[in-house]
This record gives sequence, C-alpha cells and structure tokens, in this order.
Amino acid sequence: MSGDILRDLSQLRSRTRAWRQAGETLAVVPTMGALHAGHLSLVAAAKQRAARVIVTIFVNPKQFNSAEDLANYPRTEEEDARKLGPFNVDAIWVPDGDTVYPTGFATTVSVAGVTEVMDGVHRPGHFAGVATVVAKLLLQTSAELAFFGEKDFQQLQVVRRMVADLNIPVEVIGCPTVREDDGLAMSSRNALLSPKDRPVAGQLFAEMQTMAEGIRRGGPVPALAAEATSRLTAAGFERVEYLDLRSTEDLAQLIAADRPARLFAAAHLGSVRLIDNIPV
Ligand code: PAF
Repeated sequence: MSGDILRDLSQLRSRTRAWRQAGETLAVVPTMGALHAGHLSLVAAAKQRAARVIVTIFVNPKQFNSAEDLANYPRTEEEDARKLGPFNVDAIWVPDGDTVYPTGFATTVSVAGVTEVMDGVHRPGHFAGVATVVAKLLLQTSAELAFFGEKDFQQLQVVRRMVADLNIPVEVIGCPTVREDDGLAMSSRNALLSPKDRPVAGQLFAEMQTMAEGIRRGGPVPALAAEATSRLTAAGFERVEYLDLRSTEDLAQLIAADRPARLFAAAHLGSVRLIDNIPV
C-alpha cells in the first residue's frame, strides 16, 4: 500500500514539518481523483525529483460551473489509493470540504490576463476556483515542487502566474499529456463518455494534428479551423467551442505560428466537454 490517507490538516502539517526538518524535498501532485495514467505520470515525475511526494485528492466545488457537472464528477477514492500503491507516495491528502473551505471562508485568488480567454470565457469563475484551491493546497502541503499536466495548459499558465505574483515558494513543473492509443488525451472525464461516443473522441486529436500540420505549411488558421470543425461535427461532436492557435507564453491568439505556439481545442461530445492542446 502507498502512503497514508490523511484528512486532518494538523496531521499533514506534523508530517511535512518532520520531512522539512530532515532536509527532504517535498513535491505535491494536486488532483481531483479518478486517477488515470496521466496523473500517475505526474507522480512518477515527482518521485524522480523529490524525497517525499504528496498526492492531493479534492473535488473542488469552486471550479465547477454547474451543480450537475460537480455531482457527476467521478469519485473513486479506494481505487485511486490502490493505483498509487506501486508508487509508494508518502501521503495522500484527502481533505473534506470544511477543511478546505471552513465556515466563513471569504477569500478568492483571481488571476487576470491568461484567464481571460478560452476556458476563462467559456467557464466563468473556473480559474478563480482553480487558483484559490491550488494556492490552498500549496500552502497546506508546503511543497517545494508542484506537478501539473500540460493537458490543462491554460490551468498550468494560470498557476505559474499566481505562484510568481504571490511569491509562493514552489517550482511549478508541467508534464506532457498522456494519451490513449487513439490519441485521446487522458482525462478523468473520459470515463463519462458513452460507449457510442468513446470511439469518436479520438477524432479531436486527429483533427488537431491535421490542423497543426496545415498551419506549419503556412495555411490560413481560420479556414483550417472551419474545416476541422465541420469534420468534427460530421463525426458526432455537438459543438466545437474553440480551436485556437495561441502563443505558448501568454495565450494571445495568433494567425500564424511566428513564435512558440500551441493549438487549443474544446469540444462537446455527448455530455462531455473535452479539451486538448498540442504544440505547433
Ligand atoms: O487539474 C486538476 O485536477 C484540478 O484543476 C486541480 C489542479 C487539482 C485543482 O483542483
């Protein structure tokens, strides 16, 4: 079995204090559970860099836009602990709602700029919820290294901005997206895809690759996006929210890959909203 499941903040703090006093490096892998190979790759990366690794599992109500989405989010704590077994993490931090947001909680961490595009527009309040909980998890665990997946690239940039702006003493490390055989980016939400929709889901990555190739050849971004969108809707996607070429650094929209750039997508398939991004 992997590290103990801790639910009490004073218990977590006494462990982390002892580790720090022993001069050990602490890493945290923040998650909302429903762990998949993508999360486990973050844990493996953390183990490479730190003597002590804490995995956090907290389904953060503040980052959901609808009560239904929050209610449907998969919760698989026992299974998650089992999956972490082979990694021998040092603690699994599973706070309850009152531990993270006690009565009277009144603070929001709000990041401007990188939150004002893409998911920041389509999911109002989402990134304030993410920034607030990540700030809390970093302070609760006092980790010196924090690992996040590039699958949520905008989230990664939001966390980097927040950490820099608030002088939080942690190094934020982004790790590459892990994909299923058909290219679908691993996500806890994939478990909510119906058997009919699951084979269609890989089309998103395929179309993004085609579009990225078109951009590299100098093709016009709006036309390439329109073609990819119509093929995705023909394949069964209800709606493509965005298919944007953006600067890696500040997420500014681009019409050509004239600086480090990524292609970002969000699309609805059945009841599931899929997001993905790839370098161009
Ligand atoms: O990426 C996630 O799973 C969540 O957004 C995070 C970073 C754990 C914050 O709740």
